[in-house]
Amino acid sequence: HLVAKIGPSILNSDLSRLADECDRMVKSGADYLHLDVMDGNFVPNLTFGHPVVATLKPKFKEVFFDMHMMVAEPLKWVESMAETGAEQYTFHLEAAGGHTASDVIRKIKEAGMKAGIAIKPNTPVEALLPYLNEVDMVLIMTVEPGFGGQKFMPDMMPKIKKVREMFANLDIGVDGGVSEANIGECAEAGANMIVSGSAIVKSQDPASVIASLKKSVEN
Ligand code: DX5
Ligand code: ZN
Repeated sequence: HLVAKIGPSILNSDLSRLADECDRMVKSGADYLHLDVMDGNFVPNLTFGHPVVATLKPKFKEVFFDMHMMVAEPLKWVESMAETGAEQYTFHLEAAGGHTASDVIRKIKEAGMKAGIAIKPNTPVEALLPYLNEVDMVLIMTVEPGFGGQKFMPDMMPKIKKVREMFANLDIGVDGGVSEANIGECAEAGANMIVSGSAIVKSQDPASVIASLKKSVEN
């Protein structure tokens, strides 16, 4: 059985102090960091890209960076992101566009990163099935990507269950609106890489929130 990991998303943190906020998360017990890259095209919002990650990653050599690439051209940023030292590149199936998802996955692995594939709420889980043997993680979105602080969509849980029934050992991530109120059902469904943003970063005591999230998924 896979042990659930908690990956804070710093999207809704104080981005003027990005490194300090990442440090605060690591010191509060984060198992990894989930970093949301948005290009204003795949999603209607902008964050940061590889130039920022290149300055951040050297300060966190021991921390696993899961790059959530909400970008229209996932193939385009693979090499530059790999050069930052980020460990995992999670792209959206919906954005694989002219390139097949398999090409993107191959390129990510050739660049030395782990490959994750994400789907938006309206994308059926069946669309992922052809790639499950090739990826290191699937990421099931429980909000429409683009913004932090949205409401968790519990009707995405059957997607997690379906993947977990087929693959006992694959990393399954869940992202969007996850908090102490719903982490139980995510883990129950089979998610083991739990992203949580606002619930952690907006708290004055993130360590206690992370501890409580971990406690809810202990078994
Ligand atoms: C949404 C992002 C998420 C999300 C996490 O586009 O991918 O990582 O903002 O933050 P919360 O937990 O606040 O939804
Ligand atoms: Zn994300």
